[in-house]
Amino acid sequence: MDIIQKVINTHNLTQAEIIELLNLKEPSALYAAADETRKKYLGGGVHLRGLIEFSNICKNNCLYCGLRCGNNKIKRYRMDEETIISTARKAKTYGYKTIVLQSGEDPFYDTDKLCRIIKGIKQMDLALTLSIGEKSYEEYRAYRQAGADRYLLRIETTDKALYKRLDPDMSFENRLRCLQDLKTLGYEVGSGIMAGLPGQSVESIAQDILFLKNLPVDMAGIGPFIANPDTPLADYKQNNFEIALKTMAIIRLLMPLINIPATTAMEALDKDGRIKALKSGANVVMPNITEGEARKLYILYPGKICTGEAPAVCRACIEGKIKAVGRSIAQDKGVSRAYIRRTEAQTAAERSETKS
Ligand code: SAM
Ligand code: SF4
Ligand code: FES
Repeated sequence: MDIIQKVINTHNLTQAEIIELLNLKEPSALYAAADETRKKYLGGGVHLRGLIEFSNICKNNCLYCGLRCGNNKIKRYRMDEETIISTARKAKTYGYKTIVLQSGEDPFYDTDKLCRIIKGIKQMDLALTLSIGEKSYEEYRAYRQAGADRYLLRIETTDKALYKRLDPDMSFENRLRCLQDLKTLGYEVGSGIMAGLPGQSVESIAQDILFLKNLPVDMAGIGPFIANPDTPLADYKQNNFEIALKTMAIIRLLMPLINIPATTAMEALDKDGRIKALKSGANVVMPNITEGEARKLYILYPGKICTGEAPAVCRACIEGKIKAVGRSIAQDKGVSRAYIRRTEAQTAAERSETKS
């Protein structure tokens, strides 16, 4: 059976079959199949998440990232608690139903501070996603108890040797432990990878895809690696848009119910990157709602979009783009259907265990 037809019917593939799809010279049938699958399982609604990048200070030194502590070329900033909460309040008036708080791993925000911010935002009846890196079980539990709903932590790559080279002083095992803790605590869990990392093979991307399927994740964020001139990977310039798009489309076909963002990094490499992603399986967009100078300073990679536009401009712009391709802005909080199914199955299993 043709591989694309097989995955449409079964939502399963072997690693060898995934590699074949990743190597396609003409991927348009793959993209069309992912688009059809998104439409069949999730409909035409696109969920908007308002992204607040609240600190660009990081204690880690990931080789690929502009926020790495070894980069002394960027001006650092932190937003205070009230500014973060008032940014979320403003975002609600623009119609956002979910706020994503993202930052470097910045110890300034201890558990008490973060829990106050989480509670402040949750009072507004918004869904809340955190993307603040590796923490202890106790910290994740405190954020969850304060009201955090979702957590994004990309595994980046499942090639352990590559992980070790790219993330010195961090450990693959700890990252896995974090993802497992987040699942145990009942978060809606998102993970993902960068596609096109120096030294990353298609075999290893295929392994990453199977990792996300087997975890399983409720959301998957796939971005192209973009070389940052102020990092040790400055020389690894190549356009990784297509490999990222193929990876994302295969994930949609394998995991029809999860949420998949059309990532900002895709649009840094292709002026229609997010729309191409929405037409290849994505159902989420995360416009930046950070205000003022901070918007220009969260520089992970060069060519970041929307650094000069105000949040209200982006909100109107993205709505126009989404509607222009016949899609609509979803009006609910956009809980991952994969998460709903997973938690319902768990509750049913627990009930039948108590009965027997
Ligand atoms: N510090 C947290 C973490 O690492 O999970 C959250 C913030 S971190 C900046 C968010 C994501 O940015 C990372 O998971 C990584 O995949 C992505 N990123 C960092 N540098 C990048 C680059 N040069 N190109 C593309 N994506 C990059
Ligand atoms: Fe810090 Fe995250 Fe960047 Fe690594 S990817 S340097 S943890 S902000
Ligand atoms: Fe920011 Fe279009 S989304 S200007």
